[in-house]
Amino acid sequence: MKNKIIAGNWKMNNTREQTEQLITALIPLVQDTNNTVIICVPFTDLCKAVKLTKGTNIHVGAQNCHWKESGAFTGEIAPSMLTEIGVEYVVIGHSERRTYFGETDATVLARTKAALNAGLKPIVCIGETLDERNGGRMEEVLRRQVLEGFKDISVQELEHIIVAYEPVWAIGTGVTATDEQADEAIRFVRGVFAEKYGKAAADALYIQYGGSMNDKNAEGLLNMPQIDGGLIGGASLVAEKFAAVVKAHI
Ligand code: 13P
Repeated sequence: MKNKIIAGNWKMNNTREQTEQLITALIPLVQDTNNTVIICVPFTDLCKAVKLTKGTNIHVGAQNCHWKESGAFTGEIAPSMLTEIGVEYVVIGHSERRTYFGETDATVLARTKAALNAGLKPIVCIGETLDERNGGRMEEVLRRQVLEGFKDISVQELEHIIVAYEPVWAIGTGVTATDEQADEAIRFVRGVFAEKYGKAAADALYIQYGGSMNDKNAEGLLNMPQIDGGLIGGASLVAEKFAAVVKAHI
């Protein structure tokens, strides 16, 4: 079985001072894990996070990057600006960006390509809304997000990508997908990747679950065969809770 990749998505939380407190508390709690630990922090916290985690097993990610290397794109950040300061990962296409900031499968693809070209490892998010699930369109939506969002991604590039399956109805709601629901959806997603890239590449691909995952439910989710890790929102803001998720699967 693969080791797990556990990533915290802090979203728009934590000042620099809070960043220092949280990371300082987290370092000793996760130092013995075999799982990969990533924290994806706001842009203003990146430098501090990189500095504090130097020499530890915690990796740092951003929460977005643009598809161009420079230019008139007010409010955006270039991939090389992230690698320049030591950032390794970047979250792309989170449902909050798709819902509130007009992100589409096409922009997700463009941002993913640019991130890869700069040497970043993208964590690409997909997931259906409640209406889509209840309307029997979950598979259609997930298939579209994979086929459109990975249209020009080669099998070699796929090796550097993590996928996060985050059902929108489970994000920040306290309603977690059951272990079986999450596992089944990820099995379906892996099958779509297998159609496009072959079974070996799809099996090697890391697919995380995200959506109200926490210290209480992580063990069940992370022990499901298809679930290769977690993308954690709220629970990643508390060192003890995030560490418990990191250690939920040995
Ligand atoms: P919550 O864990 O707060 O539900 O957020 C999940 C998420 O969106 C991680 O990217």
